[in-house]
Amino acid sequence: MRSAALTGWGMYVPERIVTNEELARTIDTSDEWIASRTGIRQRRVASSEDTTSSMGIRAALDAIRVAGLTPDDIDLVIVGTATPDYPFPATACLIQDALGITGGAFDLEAGCTSFMYGLSIASAYVTAGMYDHILVIGSEILSRILDWTDRSTCVLFGDGAGAVVVSAGGGAGFQPQFVLGSDGSGAQALCLPAGGSRMPSSEETVRAGLHFVHMAGPEVFRFATRVVVESTELVLTKAGLTASDVDLFIPHQANTRIIDYAVRRLGFPEDRVFLNIDRYGNTSSASIPLALCEAHAQGCLRPDDIVVMVGFGAGLTWAAAALQWTGAPLETSPTLSLPSAVTVP
Ligand code: ACO
Repeated sequence: MRSAALTGWGMYVPERIVTNEELARTIDTSDEWIASRTGIRQRRVASSEDTTSSMGIRAALDAIRVAGLTPDDIDLVIVGTATPDYPFPATACLIQDALGITGGAFDLEAGCTSFMYGLSIASAYVTAGMYDHILVIGSEILSRILDWTDRSTCVLFGDGAGAVVVSAGGGAGFQPQFVLGSDGSGAQALCLPAGGSRMPSSEETVRAGLHFVHMAGPEVFRFATRVVVESTELVLTKAGLTASDVDLFIPHQANTRIIDYAVRRLGFPEDRVFLNIDRYGNTSSASIPLALCEAHAQGCLRPDDIVVMVGFGAGLTWAAAALQWTGAPLETSPTLSLPSAVTVP
C-alpha cells in the first residue's frame, strides 16, 4: 500500500478585521465577555465580492504551488463547506473549472468537520492507488448566515479558507490514521433551519430568522469537550501512539475553553497545542487548514513531526487524524497565477 502525505498547503482570509470592540458598538456584548468565554479577539469578514469559491481558489492556488504542482496534476477536488456558493452545483465544481483542473470534484458537508472528513477520503483514495494528488479545501463565509443581532452566535464565527494537497508517497511512510464520528440525534443543536427541502425559504422563514445559524451553545459545548477527548484518544490508539509522541496538536478553533479542557485531559503540554482562534474566531471547515498553514509559517512544524488534528461540528459530527508532517516546500515550485479567463474578486 502507498502512503499519503500533505505536500501542499495554502490559506486565504478576507482583509476586513472585525474586533470585539466593534461588535460591542452594535450589540450588547464586550471584549471582556467574548475573550474570556471563547478566546476570540477578532475575526475576518468577507467583502460583498468574496465568495466561498473565490476564497477557496486563492487558498488552493497556494497549496498547489507549495506542492510543486500545477492544476493539471490535480486528480480530484474535495470542498468541505457549510456555506457553499449555491445549494447546487457544488462549489468544488466552480473551483475545478476556475483552476482548469480536469479531474472530478464534489462538496462534502459534515458541519465544521467537513475538511477533516475530506482529508480522510483523500488519504484513503491516495493510499488505495486511485489518485496521486487530491486537493482538499475548507472554505466558509459564515458571516452571510449569521444573525448579527444575536450576540450568542454572531460573536463566535469568522470567514476564511484553507487548502491542502494530499499526494502519494512511497510505501514506507507513516500511514495517516482517522477516526470519524456522527450523532444525528444532536442535529437540532446546531442547525440552519430554513432553505432546505424540509423548510423551503419563504417570507415567513425569513421574518422568523430561520435562514440564520441556530445553536444551543451549552449543549454543543458539552458535546465538543467529550468528543475531542474521546476521538483524540481513539486515533492515538489506532496509530500506536501516546500523547508524548505528539509534536503538535491542532484542534478545531471553536472555543479556547473547549480546547483547554481537552488538552488538560489528554495531557498535551501547552507549547504543543496550536491556537489562532484569537485572530480568526471559528471559521468552521477552514479552521484546521488555516491553523495548519499558520503553524507551518510560524515554524511549529518540522519534517517527521507527528501531528494530531481534531474537528467537531454540526451533525453532530467529529473527526480526528494522526499523520506525519513530511516536509518543506519544494524549491522548484512554479509560481502559479489564475488562468487568464478567470476573474476572482
Ligand atoms: N456577550 C455577552 N453576553 C452573552 C453573549 C455575548 N456575546 N452571548 C451570550 N451571553 C449571555 C447569555 O445571554 C447568558 O445570559 P443570562 O445568564 O442572562 O441568560 C450568559 O451570557 C451565559 O450564556 P451561556 O450560553 O450559558 O454562556 P456560555 O458560558 O455557555 O458561553 C458559548 C456561550 C460561548 C456560546 C458556549 O456555550 C460555547 O462556546 N459553546 C460551543 C459553541 C461552539 O463551539 N459552536 C460551534 C461548534 S461546531 C462549529 O464549529 C460550527
